[in-house]
Amino acid sequence: MSTQADNTHMQRQTPDYGLDAGLLVYAMFIVGLAAAIIGFSLVLTSSRHVSLAYAVQIFGFCCLILAALMYASSRFGKLRARDRLLARLKLHGDEALLDVGCGHGLLLIAAAKLLPRGQAVGIDLWTQAQYDNSREATLSNAALEGVEQRVKVHDGDMRKMPFADRSFDAAVAHFAIHNVPSREGRREAIREIVRTLSPGGQVAISDIFGLKLYADELRKSEMTDVEISELSFWTFPPARTVTARKPSQPV
Ligand SMILES: C[S@@+](CC[C@H](N)C(=O)[O-])C[C@H]1O[C@@H](n2cnc3c(N)ncnc32)[C@H](O)[C@@H]1O
Repeated sequence: MSTQADNTHMQRQTPDYGLDAGLLVYAMFIVGLAAAIIGFSLVLTSSRHVSLAYAVQIFGFCCLILAALMYASSRFGKLRARDRLLARLKLHGDEALLDVGCGHGLLLIAAAKLLPRGQAVGIDLWTQAQYDNSREATLSNAALEGVEQRVKVHDGDMRKMPFADRSFDAAVAHFAIHNVPSREGRREAIREIVRTLSPGGQVAISDIFGLKLYADELRKSEMTDVEISELSFWTFPPARTVTARKPSQPV
């Protein structure tokens, strides 16, 4: 029996790659709008609390600007960030690629398009780190983009992934690993990525913080060519990418 959520995704004609921290964005928009209006009315009506009125108004505008930047990041900037991240991997078209914390499939589906003879596999816990997150939404996006045959989605935790050692030629994670609450949890996720990579496999991880920790764990896991990029402003918050390669021969 199909659910209402399934039907909503089936009816959509264009893919929707999700709104990051959606509840926070909507809350900031509502609070910001209310504060801006209240502040504005106080400026007009109260002569005794003018500084308070301006402070409320400025707070409201700051919330609205932050909400707008986060919205634009999810809807536009992330598409450019996605293309830049995938370009770093120099895929040949026959690889098996893993997208860790794939959400609505932004990278997963773009990767599948670059892999006509390969496969893109996503894993996610479907938390509300992305608004209206679900495996059905991701599979619906893959179908709308015409790559459903080359996309697989697994439910699971990135700290303990249900994949055999050396399953993937490449792995990506975009704005996902920072959601794991503890530093040790984030290190576990990195070790899992390394475990599931084939010899010679490449990884590219973009995130808003934690890059030094990821790079450190990649080096400890004997990955080579570990590099952290400059800050990129295509997203809000801005992000860096760490890239690395698994040695072809055991070191
Ligand atoms: C901000 S979203 C980013 C989604 C996607 N990578 C993108 O850039 O659009 C973070 C994703 O990480 C997932 N996630 C958080 N913790 C996770 C965990 N421990 N294991 C697997 N996925 C997780 C969330 O469910 C969410 O889909």
